[in-house]
Amino acid sequence: MFKNSKPPSASRTEVSRIVRPLDANTMGTGYGGYIMDWMDMTASICARRHSNLRVNTVSVENLRFDRPLIIGHVAKIIASVTRTFNTSMEVMVSLFDEDTFQSTIVPAGSAVFILVGMDQNCKPVRVPDLIPETDAEKALWKEAGKRRVRRNKGKH
Ligand SMILES: CC(C)(COP(=O)(O)OP(=O)(O)OC[C@H]1O[C@@H](n2cnc3c(N)ncnc32)[C@H](O)[C@@H]1OP(=O)(O)O)[C@@H](O)C(=O)NCCC(=O)NCCS
Repeated sequence: MFKNSKPPSASRTEVSRIVRPLDANTMGTGYGGYIMDWMDMTASICARRHSNLRVNTVSVENLRFDRPLIIGHVAKIIASVTRTFNTSMEVMVSLFDEDTFQSTIVPAGSAVFILVGMDQNCKPVRVPDLIPETDAEKALWKEAGKRRVRRNKGKH
């Protein structure tokens, strides 16, 4: 096992921000491009906390916007490392629309990010292992492995 192995809880990252009028699309709800930026930023902070390295996003998969973000509500984004490989980390990002006036929160989207740990010379470098602890974390770890197999099959 590689040194500095960590559980997902050590790097779980939550970011919240008000969805402002300037964040709107032409339908008056949150603009997807900006939301992707917030999700990528949250995934990056999570991967940095896990690896203690600079990180590069190499892939975003299964990006879904299931509900619009309402202007004036809060976008809540949660990122967790689901599995590490050699130099790469899979980070699951969940997006929520929180209405702080009504105290309600609903799932609004999700995506699977792959980020790579980078050394001082901007070359990929080995990242610490992830040790899943809970049953849910172990299930996500297994699913991440299956996604990796499917991804690598697609290369040939
Ligand atoms: C990050 C980068 C240097 C990696 O270079 P590379 O030649 O792909 O290096 P490798 O082939 O050794 O791949 C490194 C890791 O990334 C993974 N990877 C690379 N491309 C991937 C992709 N499209 N999807 C999933 N994983 C990918 C590889 O599987 C490998 O993981 P592993 O070491 O855990 O097995 C290069 O892809 C790059 O510079 N990409 C641009 C990143 C960027 O600018 N992002 C936006 C700013 S954050």
